[in-house]
Amino acid sequence: MKFILKPTDWNKIEADVLIVYTFEKQFSHILAKGREFSSFVQQSMERELFEGSANQILSLSTKGLISAYRLLIVGLGKQDEFNFYKLRVAVAKSFRKIKEFKPAKVAVVLPEQWYHKYAADTVVQAAVEAASLSLYQFTKYKSDEETKKQRAIEEVIVSVPASRISAAEQGLKLAQITSENTCFARDLINEPSVVTTPTFLAEIATSIAKESKGKVKVKILEREEAQKLGMGAYLGVSKGSDEPPKFIILSYKPERAKKRIVLVGKGITFDTGGLSLKPSEHMETMKMDMSGAATVLAVFRAFTQFPIDHQVVGIIPACENMPSGKALKPGDIVRTMIGKTIEVLNTDAEGRLTLADAFSYALSKEKPDYMIDLATLTGACMVALGQEVAGMWGNDESLLNALEKAADTTGEKIWRMPLESEYKDLIKSDIADVKNIQTGRYGGAITAALFLSEFVQDCKWVHFDIAGPAFEEGDTPLVPKGGAGFGVRLLLQFLINL
Ligand code: BES
Ligand code: ZN
Ligand code: ZN
Repeated sequence: MKFILKPTDWNKIEADVLIVYTFEKQFSHILAKGREFSSFVQQSMERELFEGSANQILSLSTKGLISAYRLLIVGLGKQDEFNFYKLRVAVAKSFRKIKEFKPAKVAVVLPEQWYHKYAADTVVQAAVEAASLSLYQFTKYKSDEETKKQRAIEEVIVSVPASRISAAEQGLKLAQITSENTCFARDLINEPSVVTTPTFLAEIATSIAKESKGKVKVKILEREEAQKLGMGAYLGVSKGSDEPPKFIILSYKPERAKKRIVLVGKGITFDTGGLSLKPSEHMETMKMDMSGAATVLAVFRAFTQFPIDHQVVGIIPACENMPSGKALKPGDIVRTMIGKTIEVLNTDAEGRLTLADAFSYALSKEKPDYMIDLATLTGACMVALGQEVAGMWGNDESLLNALEKAADTTGEKIWRMPLESEYKDLIKSDIADVKNIQTGRYGGAITAALFLSEFVQDCKWVHFDIAGPAFEEGDTPLVPKGGAGFGVRLLLQFLINL
């Protein structure tokens, strides 16, 4: 799908479908395009009781009164209740809707008011991202003719006021990179775990490095090397699996880098729970337990297309969590790279074990200004925040603020949670330094974050629990059912702003 910016009057754009947006009862911009067209539109609005309320859609055959074949008028609701998030949803919903007309060429007119309220580059970026992300499909394994025959949208013309073209071009360029890489992460998540093994993730990392022409470097630690480094917690998780673990390190180190950042992604390629086996309904979607890893890989892939002024190291402790005769058992004690011991009372709380060693490795090799991890860590976070919102914990106000600002721009929903130090007692072990599950039932996402905080030393750090938004169980406007690629845009935006 190719996007083209044009300053053309929208009634003169030739397209199979033209989308225009309108706030409630503010139709003058639509009705100003010739008397005949105007009365036709007005009559249709009256007949179909179209008032421009939020997400109300009027679809018309234009009968040659304007150059486009079909016109879609999309309501935005009340202007004073409108915000940047609703802008994305409106665009996403309208692109979903036009799929039924099977257009090859689409044109879209973004309302003037958006440019008054927000900068042109961010408006165009948001609109292009919303359109691309809403149309994502994972059809690789569909063999029916119907899916194959579906005509894809080839071209999208974005009608932009002439004065805003150059800013809009910046937004478009960035949106294409962020959307493409978000979809890259979605593909990785949607692939079944029989494909997305730790070895496969390592191969993807290697190919990202290869395609980067030297900008991104990769190093893979095999089991023996991890053993030498003393990564007993990470290797403990991998013990039950026939798939070899791969500890993946990506680095992007431009000259004269401003800041040094470490990104850590949970990379459990399948989480059965281990011997603390999950019930089947909870296991069904557990191929998604490498979503954090997919996001980190996608962010590094973006560096090959868009230069960032910071040094970034990506760490993915990839392995599979399986039950077997060799698996870690409840009650076992593992020793981490920094010597801290963990009593493993539940083998399903495996993500934190792999992250403990990943953090320790990162901090022993790099001296980062910031460390950010993304992990599908706890069902408890979904209980607390639902399926759309990621929990965010951290120990540095300015880093937390910067990530909140980035999320505001990208429309990814995050919510600040407390690192409540009084709850630390709940993860004290009788016989080791710490235990991997808590005493009692409440606050499980917080105690998981507190567990991680035991391994961040004095680094400025933020943890995202993305168990909810990483994987959609039903379609949402911007994310079709399946892997979401949550955090790709957020991290890129954060790095751009930094
Ligand atoms: N990968 C899961 C968390 C998860 C649950 C992600 C649902 C996405 C959707 C994690 O490894 C896990 O199993 N956590 C346990 C921790 C518990 C045993 C303390 C959980 O949340 O039940
Ligand atoms: Zn688990
Ligand atoms: Zn898990």
